[in-house]
Amino acid sequence: MSTVRIAPSILSADFARLGEEVRAIEAAGADWVHFDVMDNHYVPNLTIGPLVCEAIRPHVQIPIDVHLMVEPVDALVPLFAKAGANIITFHPEASRHVDRTLQMIRDHGCKAGLVFNPATPLEWMDHVMDRLDVVLLMSVNPGFGGQKFIPSTLPKLQAARQRINTHAARGGQSIVLEVDGGVKTDNIAQIVAAGADTCVAGSAVFGAPDADGGYRGVMQALKQ
Ligand code: DX5
Ligand code: ZN
Repeated sequence: MSTVRIAPSILSADFARLGEEVRAIEAAGADWVHFDVMDNHYVPNLTIGPLVCEAIRPHVQIPIDVHLMVEPVDALVPLFAKAGANIITFHPEASRHVDRTLQMIRDHGCKAGLVFNPATPLEWMDHVMDRLDVVLLMSVNPGFGGQKFIPSTLPKLQAARQRINTHAARGGQSIVLEVDGGVKTDNIAQIVAAGADTCVAGSAVFGAPDADGGYRGVMQALKQ
């Protein structure tokens, strides 16, 4: 269980104290900072862009995991790479040319990944397995923090884990399996048992009175 990564989502952080918030989760032991980008077009909400990524970059050493909920995708890739993103994931339905976008992300020196909404079939990954560093399964519909975990994500995680393991067994690169949405202390163990190795947690971490206490609570739940 100790190999499970936790990526706190700053969507639920205090934006007036963002530097402090990301430093707190890094000091508590968080593995990645999850950075949710929403455009009021692909999803019905509007959040933060490359300027904010650039602003938090000097505050932490850990990778910044940029989750693009935007359409179109490509124009933002170089901007986020320049702003210090380490991982960039996007929703395949939002890109005209999924293979090209994945390649573009890697060409800019970042790890690349696809994000699957609850109703998006895993088949989207079939012909681009070699280009993937991350597979991110949404366990809520994208757009908002604090939603309830959708249980059908569990069998979908098992199916994604099987595909990733089969790819590795055939000599392919290793691929991170990340889950995002409604991850809490009472379901994280089940989510990891279904095959996730990286868990995004927004309200479970930043909804706590202090972020490092929230992070410790999630870690504690993993050990049980
Ligand atoms: C939702 C975002 C998530 C969100 C998770 O569209 O992609 O990253 O911040 O928040 P919680 O953990 O509160 O569901
Ligand atoms: Zn996210």
